[in-house]
Amino acid sequence: MNIILIGFMGSGKTSLGIRLSYKLKQPFLDTDKEIERINDKTIKEIFSAEGEESFRRMETDYIRGLLDKNVTDHVISTGGGTPLRDENMEILKELGVVVWLRITPDTVFDRLKNDTNRPLLQTEDPASTIERLLEFRNPLYEKCSDVIIDVDNKPVERIMDEVFTKSAGVYRHKKRIHRSGGMKQT
Ligand code: S3P
Repeated sequence: MNIILIGFMGSGKTSLGIRLSYKLKQPFLDTDKEIERINDKTIKEIFSAEGEESFRRMETDYIRGLLDKNVTDHVISTGGGTPLRDENMEILKELGVVVWLRITPDTVFDRLKNDTNRPLLQTEDPASTIERLLEFRNPLYEKCSDVIIDVDNKPVERIMDEVFTKSAGVYRHKKRIHRSGGMKQT
């Protein structure tokens, strides 16, 4: 069974994913990095050359490919906007246990105020952009997730522990459904 990390930019999906992968001895996949590798371009370059819509299509194609190839027992970290499309939500839920790393706007701003690699945050007032985006996205992250973990002010070891304790039940449940081939009906 895969563990899939979703959440806003700066919520720590990649760094947590790498640690989880090490601990669980499951390979790690970062959808942003894979899209960059496949296209031989950075996310920033894709956004500026082809636009956000095109990037969103790449995201959907990539995660659908994971499902088609039956990728399992991986730790998968997604881009902050992946759960925005209904289609993607369905795919992620079908891929495994979806863990939302919930974060507040202040912590995001603190972590990303000097970042230049997130095209959506290169605005005149990144603090309000973060607030606006989070307000819109939080209900979608919630809808997409099996497990919610608040990450503000928490050391990564504690977040890891919470992933294990909170995911255990969902993990077993999804695994049963998966085996009986009924995942699509849930
Ligand atoms: C995005 C988040 C980024 C990346 C792209 C768009 C978003 O990923 O996919 O810049 O829409 O939130 P991270 O969440 O890994 O920064």
